[in-house]
Amino acid sequence: MALERTFSIIKPDAVAKNVIGGIYNRFESAGLRLVASKMLHLSKEQAEGFYAEHSERPFFAALVSFMTSGPVMVQVLEGENAVLKNREIMGATNPADALAGTLRADYAASIDENACHGSDAPESAAREIAYFFSDEEICPRTR
Ligand code: TYD
Ligand code: MG
Repeated sequence: MALERTFSIIKPDAVAKNVIGGIYNRFESAGLRLVASKMLHLSKEQAEGFYAEHSERPFFAALVSFMTSGPVMVQVLEGENAVLKNREIMGATNPADALAGTLRADYAASIDENACHGSDAPESAAREIAYFFSDEEICPRTR
């Protein structure tokens, strides 16, 4: 299968727990490569735009408030089956349902503060990558 890219966020709760390196290690151990990465403190407008598909949901205001509560790491991961692989590394949305050894089982306190984001399909990955990164900021690996 061809190389695929996915978009990932380490959310403010996990950044506050000081586990950025531990999470990057999980990605790398699973064969995913970082091809772009930066730290940001999202504005309300950035968070609302990113999660626009959820704007009518009852948790939307709390989600935007959480996502703007501190810095996040945003990154592009590349590898075979990257979208699905990252979702497996993350675990279920609700940490109570997440398999042992997944990021959300290990680092998330609740469904509304759940440590990480990962694109759910190649189409959303392309949209989400373009939301945060220009082409020049992405560095495909040549070796
Ligand atoms: P969703 O896209 O359903 O989950 P995932 O992040 O696994 O793709 O929801 C986006 C985020 O919205 C989710 O990570 C946390 C938040 N959220 C809640 O706070 N409460 C909820 O009941 C749901 C479904 C999501
Ligand atoms: Mg989602």
